Amino acid sequence: MDVFRIEGGARLAGTLRVNGSKNAALPQLAACLLTDTPVTLRDVPELSDIGSMYRLLATLGVDLDRDADTRTVTLRSADEGKSHATYDIMRTMRAGICTLGPMLARRGSARVSLPGGCAIGDRPVNLHLKGMRALGAQIDLDQGDIVATAPGGRLRGARVFLGGSFGSTVLGTANVMSAATLAEGTTIIESAACEPEIVDLADLLTAMGARIAGAGSPRITIEGVNELGGTDHRVIADRIEAGTFMVAAAITGGSLRLKNCPLDCMMAATELLRDSGVIIREEPGADPLRATCTVEAGDKLMPAELTTQPHPGFPTDLQAQFMALLCLADGNSVVTEKIFPERFMHVAELSRMGASLHRQGATVVVSGVRGLTGAPVMASDLRASAGLVLAGLAAKGQTVINRVYHLDRGYEHLETRLAEVGAKITRCDDTVAARVPKTTDLPEVTVVRRRPVAGPAS
Ligand code: EPZ
Repeated sequence: MDVFRIEGGARLAGTLRVNGSKNAALPQLAACLLTDTPVTLRDVPELSDIGSMYRLLATLGVDLDRDADTRTVTLRSADEGKSHATYDIMRTMRAGICTLGPMLARRGSARVSLPGGCAIGDRPVNLHLKGMRALGAQIDLDQGDIVATAPGGRLRGARVFLGGSFGSTVLGTANVMSAATLAEGTTIIESAACEPEIVDLADLLTAMGARIAGAGSPRITIEGVNELGGTDHRVIADRIEAGTFMVAAAITGGSLRLKNCPLDCMMAATELLRDSGVIIREEPGADPLRATCTVEAGDKLMPAELTTQPHPGFPTDLQAQFMALLCLADGNSVVTEKIFPERFMHVAELSRMGASLHRQGATVVVSGVRGLTGAPVMASDLRASAGLVLAGLAAKGQTVINRVYHLDRGYEHLETRLAEVGAKITRCDDTVAARVPKTTDLPEVTVVRRRPVAGPAS
């Protein structure tokens, strides 16, 4: 298995481009099942989760034509007789649940394996099924699979409440909104997720001929149509990758210029960074969702109170990265996780690096320390792993991060891109890293570079 070896202490400086959003691309790839005409998506990141979705769609009868250089993929749902999303792929990438709605709406039936849980929680899909039932589907469970049928071959529009104690479900909203585009009549989704990825999906579906109003608000109205066509759509930039890079600049005392940055949908994160003393300067430009900005560490890092919430609140996917930053703040911070209360796999690992963290249920008190110390740590889920990389960049000495396949699910060639702006980070296989002496003046090692492989779902 690959590991990252990081020599901390380098201030990052330079320019990075933010890639297209994994979490926008995944439901959009599934949306190609709503039509038998070609759908082209641009700026789709080269990630193992995306690769898993490609493999899943291929088993569902979709022909794919990919250009990795331009990150463009054209999909055509050619064989609509294959409608079983099996466990062997679903267990590696739970977003495959988003194929349920489109297949049910277009093909009239679908068999989709229940996705497993993961490191951040048990990840139920009850609201996805609630939405499909509301649209008239017959839903049964058989040997771990969801077996769904639309009576008469077509779903019927309905009103459905998708809220829960946590707020709303992002992929649940995506699934129901996609299914409703071909239902007979009007669908109203109440307590819909307002994430930018939902807005971008609605933009794609509208370009395919869907009739959607209110995406980005808690109430989305969909007028069902009989047929959807193909289109050519560019995926929104990845706000979580952008936030991760912003923290990388701040935590290393550096300065990064970020291009293709979706600043307009990142205000909760940028406000918290600014309140903590980080300097963020936006360059004048046309599209606030594809902005260019410079992020620079301030003289002093102030503590903060961070609570994760549904958009436009602070995103849970940046919680670990910001906790790593706040470990070095001048004072005590409080981090509360309201979306996935168990999403603290990074706490023990950060503590191994000298962080002073005190967890009480879904809240962690972060007592700022003067510095972190490099250590061997274990990646556990995608965003926790990103938090460990950021801590390693700032720590004194060497950090070895094991199981980096978690990172490859959501960050494209992270080590290469960080090294381009000054980070001392290399990818090697764990046998090499284990043999490397734990001193700062390390001999150059032969780095064995292999293309990342899909790892188990986090
Ligand atoms: C999406 O997951 C993202 N994944 C997650 O990002 C992100 O953390 C999450 O939204 C919250 O923002 C993708 O978009 C591929 P949810 P999703 O349904 O849609 C509960 C990353 O690191 N819930 O919004 O699966 C659930 O338990 C990933 O990129 C139900 O109770 O998350 C959680 O407490 C991790 N029943 C809350 O809702 C359901 O049927 C939010 O989950 C569905 C969800």
